[in-house]
Amino acid sequence: MSPLPTYDSMIPEAGLRAALALDRPRIISEIGASGLKGRGGAGFPTAVKWNFAAAAQADKKFVICNADEGEPGTFKDRVILQEHADLVFEGMTVAGKAVGAHEGILFLRGEYTYLRGHLEAVLAGRRDRNLLGKGILGSGLDFDIRIFMGAGAYICGEETALIEALEGFRGEPRNRPPFPVNTGFLGRPSIVNNVETLAWAACILGRGADWFRSVGTEKSTGRKIFSVSGDCARPGVYEFPMGLTVAELLKEVGGEDAKAAQIGGAAGQCVPAKDFGRSIAFEDIPTGGSIIVLGPHRDMLDVLHNFLEFFVDESCGQCAPCRLGNTKLLEGLEMLRNGTCSMAYLKELCDLGGTMQVASKCGLGQSSPNAFLSVVENFREELMGRIPTHA
Ligand code: NAI
Ligand code: SF4
Repeated sequence: MSPLPTYDSMIPEAGLRAALALDRPRIISEIGASGLKGRGGAGFPTAVKWNFAAAAQADKKFVICNADEGEPGTFKDRVILQEHADLVFEGMTVAGKAVGAHEGILFLRGEYTYLRGHLEAVLAGRRDRNLLGKGILGSGLDFDIRIFMGAGAYICGEETALIEALEGFRGEPRNRPPFPVNTGFLGRPSIVNNVETLAWAACILGRGADWFRSVGTEKSTGRKIFSVSGDCARPGVYEFPMGLTVAELLKEVGGEDAKAAQIGGAAGQCVPAKDFGRSIAFEDIPTGGSIIVLGPHRDMLDVLHNFLEFFVDESCGQCAPCRLGNTKLLEGLEMLRNGTCSMAYLKELCDLGGTMQVASKCGLGQSSPNAFLSVVENFREELMGRIPTHA
């Protein structure tokens, strides 16, 4: 059975044809009425982003699809691109009409190079059917899409680092503001949207805002695609309504005996079993869709070690809180493992984590201490056994 039943049920081109029949503000107001929020993790309202770019005055604008999916435990965009590339390209085209852009760029994760041939073939097919190119389907819309290959750096999933890489520079985050909607690729207004967000945008135009918001919660409307991995019977990609509880999700994937669920990838929260009644939604536990199930036998220090090694490797090194902070957290974790970390030093590490959250330049450093801090908060007893009693 396909893990993406709603995408499977979409009528091809319905979203694009609907968008071509509407003027730009009507397209954005339909997206706004649906309540769609960014599916990459941050949950920024899609219509607000599109409105900013639509309002900006410039000779050129760009629609950028962020397919640099690199968060540990996250692989749903890969499946969406494998199975429903047409829907993603349709969403990009709809976005192009909405904001007044003629060029779309798919920034594809370097490790997904094997998908490129398939995606180029889908693009060629769309050009043949006049779903891309000049005067799309007899309308006045000119829009085409090209693929840009990432080179394997996690930080290029951060939108301004992605834009730097697109421009041929080293992928390092810029200061925001200005946001890409005003000053993006080549200094022009650019919307950067996640793969899944664009696919939902096409669905919403095709089936209407009311259809989309008929499931989910008031603040987190619609459905979401999840990547589920770790200690569960049925790992894989799933589609669920927003707002389901962690317990409901774990039941579906065969992970009921988990002691924790890491939600939002390595940069997310480690949710302990006592909180499995909480819901997965922007107003409670937000996520880009990564769920790592942690079974009863898991050593939380091993889990954290894995995450922190990743962040030490992937920090771009531009700012001190992230560059030094992740290294210090990793060293502290190793001290915890070998029984040389005192209570006082553990408190210092938590203070450092708090500083990183507020002082780091971009989302990587701001979110990399999250797992450490939530494990210290929620698995205190497990950690206490690793702290020498005299310390
Ligand atoms: P953010 O909340 O700063 O921004 C989200 C989006 O809204 C961006 O496109 C930004 O340009 C736009 N935006 C925000 N405020 C704006 C304003 N005032 N005017 C115009 N546009 C505005 O979040 P950020 O740093 O872009 O992304 C962090 C998120 O990414 C985290 O929540 C994390 O979960 C997720 N993430 C996802 C990964 C993945 O592989 N899917 C990897 C790493 C992080
Ligand atoms: Fe680079 Fe980390 Fe600073 Fe982001 S927070 S700019 S990844 S050093």
